[in-house]
This record gives sequence, structure tokens and C-alpha cells, in this order.
Amino acid sequence: MYKSSYPKTFPENFLWGGATAANQIEGAWNIDGKGLSTAEVVRKSEDRHQMSMDDVTRESLKNALLDQTDQYYPKRRGIDFYHRYKEDIKLFAEMGFKVFRFSMAWSRIFPTGEDEKPNEAGLNFYDCVLSELEKYNIEPLVTLSHYEMPIALTEKYNGWSKRQTITAFNLFTGTVFKRFKGRVRYWLTFNEINTGTWGFHETGAIDGNLSKEDQLQIRYQCLHHQFVASAIATKQLREIDPKAKIGCMLARMQTYPSTPNPKDVRAAQLEDEKNLFFTDVQARGEYPEYMNRYLAENNVEIKMENDDQNIISKYTVDFVSFSYYMTTVTEANGKEQANGNMATGGRNPYLKESDWGWQIDPIGLRITLNAMWDRYRKPLFIVENGIGALDKLDKGRIHDSYRIDYLRQHIEQMKEAISDGVDLLGYTMWGPIDLISFSTSEMSKRYGFIYVDQDDSGKGTLDRIKKDSFYWFKKVIASNGEDLS
Ligand code: BG6
Repeated sequence: MYKSSYPKTFPENFLWGGATAANQIEGAWNIDGKGLSTAEVVRKSEDRHQMSMDDVTRESLKNALLDQTDQYYPKRRGIDFYHRYKEDIKLFAEMGFKVFRFSMAWSRIFPTGEDEKPNEAGLNFYDCVLSELEKYNIEPLVTLSHYEMPIALTEKYNGWSKRQTITAFNLFTGTVFKRFKGRVRYWLTFNEINTGTWGFHETGAIDGNLSKEDQLQIRYQCLHHQFVASAIATKQLREIDPKAKIGCMLARMQTYPSTPNPKDVRAAQLEDEKNLFFTDVQARGEYPEYMNRYLAENNVEIKMENDDQNIISKYTVDFVSFSYYMTTVTEANGKEQANGNMATGGRNPYLKESDWGWQIDPIGLRITLNAMWDRYRKPLFIVENGIGALDKLDKGRIHDSYRIDYLRQHIEQMKEAISDGVDLLGYTMWGPIDLISFSTSEMSKRYGFIYVDQDDSGKGTLDRIKKDSFYWFKKVIASNGEDLS
């Protein structure tokens, strides 16, 4: 007789941990041979909460290249993980982390992207980080490109818009796969690859002066090159380190129709397809027909070379990872917009919002996990989820019950999804230690279990302080997700 295995709990080897990105934590932007990266020319906007990541123009780039300080460029200073990684990893180990997601800064290893030899000091830094993780049995999950690339490639090729950047990227990926063979089991190619449709931070291409139509053309062309580069990286990894696994990474934007009106339902379906297009290519190995139609209707013509389709279909990913922060609402005729770091969509009256107006939707996580599992039947990995908040220091403590509530509610829904049958590899909460915000370059938008004493202008001791959520997450991990109290 058939017997269901319901209810399920978190698998024994579930990977609990946290996620970061080099340009938001490392600092040390101009030492030990590192080249300048695209993230380090993004100026923090004067206006609080205003997004700063895509304000780069030819003019501002010129100024950024001349400016040798970190005053207006907080991603140049990060939280000094470069010098404090031992202390930080020790704190992650104290929480019981099973996995730590970080990215390797391409420009630390290939300062101009096309250097004859890699920068040994850069490779050595990641050697040291990996050794430290090994000391505590923490599994590394490495992103190869998290919103940055050597600025020299922007200057020379306008980022990903030229095919030469594919070659440069695969020089970098081949190098790190060989160097760290056997030490990294999980790799990701591009962080939130879909955000390339929003511009510079992902494509490395300056296109602010172009018409909307030309922008769309250049952005999808860049993305195509990234698909090819990602598939080539997958091929390289299978040849160099066949035991390792490689995944794609999507900023998942689940959207709901604003009403049962079929027009709204259809509009929401199209929005959803435009979001899932990226994982469709990387996990299923082809451009879906709905997207070919969308591109044609928007006069976007992607230039492909003969082998592109082949390589994309042959080297699909082993697992599908995504970030999950919020959901949106879609209405056929447009609607009041809610905030997000890049994506905006309609406001949902049933949801609460974070201090930055991001709509909090734990059940949406279960919905999306089920939908993605049904669609791909490949293991899933939640590699970002968390809440940016204004934490207050209270006699040396931070009582962040709002963060605990947010995470608890999402973990509960993950458990439900596992019971629904979803194969989930792990969960890396975003920003386990406070870091520089990607979208606003603020320090005061804090995600961490660990507080970092630094303000928006870079002042502070950089001391690390454990928040209430630190102790809570430690309990969650120790009980493998059973004790969420
Ligand atoms: C994701 C990015 O979009 O969201 C991270 O991958 C980013 O780099 C995170 O930090 C949170 O966004 P923000 O803008 O609040 O830092």
C-alpha cells in the first residue's frame, strides 16, 4: 500500500547559514593588487532611501575614477571583512552555521579582467577565508559574480555588451575552479541575473543616455552573454571538479493578480513569466517561446553565435537558487506602486511593509517554492531572505524582535513547503552581519544577527555586537528548524 512520508521536517543535512557579497563587506578596495570594480564607482545618493545603484553615467564614472577616497563610495569600505574575516567567521560558527555564502571579487583576482596572470594576493585571500570556514566545518557557497566586475571591462567593452567579456569571465571562473577544486561544493554564477533588465549593476554597461528601446536591446544582449558565460562556467566546473554543483540565482518576484478579472490574471502571468524566463533558460536550457514573443514584440533582437544555443541547452544548472524578499500585485492597467530595491509592483492591502516599504509575505515564499519545484524538479536553495531595518543600540544590546518575527514566519513556510514535497537544500539568510546596502549604499539599513558599529558616513569602531536574533538563530540551527520560539 502507498504510504505518504508526510509530515516532513527539515532534512538532516539542511544547510542553514547566511549570505553576503564581496562589495558589501570586504572593503580593502585598493590594496593587495585589487582592481576597481563596478560596485565601487556607485556613489551613495544624498537622499536617504533613494536608490543609488544605477546612477552611473560616463561623466560620473570619470569622476569616480579620479576620486581616490571612499567618502562617497561606501562599497569601497564595506565593513572591513577583508581584515576581520576570522572574527566574523568565528561568530558565524558560534551560531552554528552549516554554510556561508560569499562572493569572490572578480577584480581582486583579475584586476583588469584580462590580466595575463591572476593576482596571487587575491587568490590567497580566498584561500584564507576557505581555510577559516574549513576550521569550523562551514560549507562555502560561492557566488562568482555578485553585482560587480572589473571596471576596466566597462571602459573597454561596456560591460557585458560585448562577447569579449564572456572570455574574460571564463578566464576568471576556470582559474578559481582549478585553484579551489575540492574545497567548494556549491557555486553560483550570477547573483540575481534577472536584475540585468534594470541595468548597470548587473550588466556593467552604461546605458543611461539611451532610449528605453535601445536600453532594452542592450540589456537583453548583455544577459544573453551572461547565459552563455554561465553555461561555459558549468562546463568548466564539470570538467575540473565534477563533484561540485553549480546553480543559477534569481531575484524571485512572485506576483499576484490584483483581481480575478482574467485581464489581471493574464497580466500577472506575463509578469511572472518575465521573472522566471532566466531560470527557464538556465535550468531548462532554452529560450522559452513566450519570451521570444515578448522580445520580438519589443523589437529586441538578440545576436547569437552558432554554438550559443547548444551550450545553453547542454550545460544547465544542478540546482536553482533564488532570493526572496517580497511579492507584488499586478493589474492589467497599472496600480499604485510598492517599494523594492529594484523591482516595484502593485501594493497588496493584505501585507505589512518593512521600514523601507518592502511588502512582507511569508506565505508567498511557500507559494513560490511550490511553483518553482513544480516547474523545474531540481533542488532549490533560498540564498537570500531577510529584513532591512533601523536597529537601535540600547545599552549595548539590540532587541530586534521584528527580525526574529520576520525570519520565523518565513522559516515556518519553508517547513510547510518541504511537507508539500519541495526539495530544499538550504537557507542562507541575507546579511548575517550588517553590511552596506546594495540599493541605497546605506549602513543604517541593517539585516544582521550581528551589529556593526559604523554609520552611513563610515564613522564608528567597526566593533561587532550580537543582537537578540543572534541567539535565536543559534537555537533554530541547533534544533534543525524545530525550535522557532
Ligand atoms: C539582493 C541583493 O537584491 O538584496 C543583495 O542580492 C542586497 O546584494 C539584498 O543587499 C538586499 O537589498 P538592499 O538593497 O536592501 O541591500
